[in-house]
Amino acid sequence: MQRRIVHLLEGDQKSDFADEILELDPRVYTDPKRFEAERKKIFLEGPMLVGLSGELSEPGDRILFDAAGPPILVIRGEDGALRAFLNMCTHRGARLVSNCDPAKQLLCPFHGWVFDLEGRLASMPLKHAFEGMGDEARGLIRVPVAERHGMVFVRVRPLEGGGEELDLEDFLGPIGPLLDALQLDTLRLIRADRIEAHTNWKLALDMGREVYHVPAVHKNTIAANLYPHVAIFDCYGTHSRFSGGSKDFAALVGKPEAEWPAMNYQAVHYLFPNTTLSFTHSFDTETPVVTMSRIFPGESIGEAVTLLATYRRGEAKHVADEQISAMHEAVVGIVGTEDYDVAHTVWKSIEHGSPGIPFLLGRNELLVQRYHREIADRIGMPLPERGRG
Ligand code: FES
Ligand SMILES: [Fe+2]
Repeated sequence: MQRRIVHLLEGDQKSDFADEILELDPRVYTDPKRFEAERKKIFLEGPMLVGLSGELSEPGDRILFDAAGPPILVIRGEDGALRAFLNMCTHRGARLVSNCDPAKQLLCPFHGWVFDLEGRLASMPLKHAFEGMGDEARGLIRVPVAERHGMVFVRVRPLEGGGEELDLEDFLGPIGPLLDALQLDTLRLIRADRIEAHTNWKLALDMGREVYHVPAVHKNTIAANLYPHVAIFDCYGTHSRFSGGSKDFAALVGKPEAEWPAMNYQAVHYLFPNTTLSFTHSFDTETPVVTMSRIFPGESIGEAVTLLATYRRGEAKHVADEQISAMHEAVVGIVGTEDYDVAHTVWKSIEHGSPGIPFLLGRNELLVQRYHREIADRIGMPLPERGRG
């Protein structure tokens, strides 16, 4: 990728483009049927990345995840296995766990039923009042969970009658070896935040899938570190990788490769449907920092939720966690205001009905094109032909 970017900056190569312009009917963002289908087919029924393995390294470690629908609890058992459950007490439905402090048992705050880390009902006050209920049947409700390449995925719909497990080989497909090389299992979480945006989730998603907007929207922040409109892409089935024109590459331009200084890997990885993993080294070459963003539909069609988390390699010591935390805060500010302020204005333009012309996705906006096609395909609702009516 480095070589391709440098050749591009030297003028020997062009940014990667799609074959054609795509006319996109703005109703793909505003059609309530489409929105419901996306929530069901993509977020309730598809694999959802809930975090990285480093967040669940010890028995009792847990992740709470409620962005895709029902609240989910993912927990590492005493036996080292990961399990995922609806985060709901099987007595009368109270939320069972509301913080991530590790613990050996799960105590329901409503009437005090206690579950073990494997989800079995371990004890309860006044047991004789429930005689004959069948303890077995009152274990926590399982949902599918699987761990691969240092990432943990669940499907938030409970397993019915044993149901289907998650097939991550099939889901990740050809991007598996690349993810393996990223050693995501060595990353340590520094900070995580939730950003709410008043826009459709796909308008929020679009912001992160092209760099065409960077010189205008981010002119006072990240644009300074990037050559404008430089982009290369690699596609791996429904997933992809992108690299842009970081000014770090300036030191390499015009030099024979043998003289290039060592540079860390920088690239952005997109996992369908909603995840971005950005590898940067904003501090020094020995401290890779990884930002993970996941975008979800909010409570309504005009709301979106972004979970943004920043990680570092466990062993890197040159930069204090506080510095990385400050960088994370800056990113939250840039996404939450610069990006989502624009995405909000787009939503306001279309929420009351089609403006009568299609939006245009240029050949440079190829990843946005791919995403819209793939989402439409996944929900079984092809993109409307043109933006009339
Ligand atoms: S709802 Fe949990 S103990 Fe009653
Ligand atoms: Fe942006």
